[in-house]
Amino acid sequence: MNVFGIDFGTTNSAAVALIGGLPVKIGHGDRPFPSIVAIHKVTGRVVARGFEAWQQRESLRETCEVITSPKSYLGSNHVWKIGGHDWLPLDIAAEVFKGLADKIEPVAGTVTEATVSIPVGFAPAKRRELRRAAMKAGIKISSFVSEPTAALLKNHDKVKMWTKIAVLDWGGGTLDISVVELMGKEVRELSAVGIPLGGDNLDAKIAEWAHNHHLKTAQAGVPFHEIDVKSRDRLLAKAEDAKRQLGNCEVTDIMLPSYGGMGNLKVKLTLDTMKSLLSPEIETVLDGLKQAVNSEAKMSFDELGCVLMVGGSSKLASLYERIVDLVSCEVIAPSPEADWEVAQGAAMLDHLQGAHVNNDNIGIELCDGSFFPIISKGTEVEHVSNSLNFGIVEDTQSACFNFYKAPGNAPLAFSGSSRRRVGSLVIPTNGFVNEAINVEYTIDPDLFLKVSARSDHKGQSATRSWEYDQLLFTYHLPLEGHQ
Ligand SMILES: Nc1ncnc2c1ncn2[C@@H]1O[C@H](COP(=O)(O)OP(=O)(O)OP(=O)(O)O)[C@@H](O)[C@H]1O
Ligand SMILES: [Mg+2]
Repeated sequence: MNVFGIDFGTTNSAAVALIGGLPVKIGHGDRPFPSIVAIHKVTGRVVARGFEAWQQRESLRETCEVITSPKSYLGSNHVWKIGGHDWLPLDIAAEVFKGLADKIEPVAGTVTEATVSIPVGFAPAKRRELRRAAMKAGIKISSFVSEPTAALLKNHDKVKMWTKIAVLDWGGGTLDISVVELMGKEVRELSAVGIPLGGDNLDAKIAEWAHNHHLKTAQAGVPFHEIDVKSRDRLLAKAEDAKRQLGNCEVTDIMLPSYGGMGNLKVKLTLDTMKSLLSPEIETVLDGLKQAVNSEAKMSFDELGCVLMVGGSSKLASLYERIVDLVSCEVIAPSPEADWEVAQGAAMLDHLQGAHVNNDNIGIELCDGSFFPIISKGTEVEHVSNSLNFGIVEDTQSACFNFYKAPGNAPLAFSGSSRRRVGSLVIPTNGFVNEAINVEYTIDPDLFLKVSARSDHKGQSATRSWEYDQLLFTYHLPLEGHQ
């Protein structure tokens, strides 16, 4: 039976099918499937998806709403009112899944189940919407996997001579960095940092710069944020082209005829200008790497075997050099296979279909300093579920639970600075000594920790919950021949 991995990306989505154990890439020909949907403004029909929508986006905008980056809207209240219908982010995401399923069908048959990759710290609400979006396209998400971990699994052969590896996946919408440890056939996530910064933000910055530059010579004009949507989208597309071109040359022109009623836009962008324009974002990437390695995994850069760079934005001119300057280990630049790596890692996991093993130690501390471990490393996710009963010891109107986790490979200490607070939950109480508080916790099938507390006294009950979406896991690698 074929198994599938899907990388539902902000800019590009991709699928990999394992057919007879061998990976087959599915997108648009040899390119991934752009996460773009064009919907007719009057009829509300989906006119184009993926590559067709991307290629014809300028002309399609006459008759259609062309929606890009739907992933970044998941979990929000955004609504597109098109052709008399309300389109929610999950409806648009479902169209991307449908487009991908149509591409998969002739190559690998109907896709009914797949493992889907998600960014680090993808909120539970976003996971639920992604699951529903896939379901609307007939695809049951068998499991989620973190995007950098999926990329690591795909590249295991390339990096297996090292023990500790930082994976830096910088895409169109998010920057995801994980530190993983390889122990024989085990891959252990030691830390994960997710930052909502991607190529879309860089394009916006370049577009605004070009707009302001043009304003200096235009007869009249409006500020960038007041420009009409169509002109802004056209300029964003040109900014993206320029950003890519400056990977291979020193200077490029951003040109747009009849730009928003402000004449023809023609602005020269040099590599040096782009580097200084985007230097705050590059600093954010370097800070994210320091956070993942030093603060979260509690390691020095000397302990790192390599940094594996994946994702389209990792190709940004000058990022590689900046990372080489920062670390003392090998740095692997994005490969030509970059568009497929995450989907292929997800497909490898789909093939495994084994239990997820937790790689976190998390515990609860009460206001009086007493400490209760709740989840520990090596436990199968299915077995993390429990109910604890507490009683308050003094006349108080609230009870507070603080959640701590151990960094990197450290055991969870009952006290001390090595543990880190990751959240808290405060529940109102009724001020009676010995008042009972019940705390239940479980790991949801969408792979986040769900804790709910309930206080109850003489019919006056209150419930509060806390969700933690940055759990770390351990994976056992697939058999040889499935990579
Ligand atoms: N040569 C290049 N230089 C700079 N940026 C590039 C280059 N090639 C592609 N990109 C950028 O990479 C981004 C797309 O990368 P990728 O396909 O990895 O993202 P994604 O998987 O869709 O997004 P995410 O993982 O954040 O959801 C786009 O913003 C694109 O402009
Ligand atoms: Mg991606």
